[in-house]
Amino acid sequence: MAADPRNGAKLYNQHCSSCHGARGQGAMPGTPDFSRGEGLRVANASLLTVIENGSGVMPAYRGLLSTQDILDVISHLRTFQ
Ligand code: HEC
Repeated sequence: MAADPRNGAKLYNQHCSSCHGARGQGAMPGTPDFSRGEGLRVANASLLTVIENGSGVMPAYRGLLSTQDILDVISHLRTFQ
């Protein structure tokens, strides 16, 4: 199924924006600035793995978000650049 950026935006605002900021610029120290492409210069498969497993203080989303939901969020991340 193709990614749905609208669903991705909704999920991003619910689950990610508190740390990553409304425009992906980062809202806490140590977060990549998605608007500058930081953390995004990798394939979607790698981003999927990071988001499923978490990284440092970032929680794991496996079980909370489906693979399709995460792919939707990734398509939203790619609109920040
Ligand atoms: C509790 C705060 C927090 C939340 C919530 C959070 N993140 Fe993160 N995220 C971080 C931090 C901090 C880093 C830097 C990770 C590191 O240093 O290992 C990061 C890194 C990333 C990266 C780059 C990973 C890399 O290896 O370069 C991506 C992509 C990402 N987050 C996506 C998301 C998405 C999508 C969500 C919501 C589903 C989310 N994050 C929720 C804090 C958070």
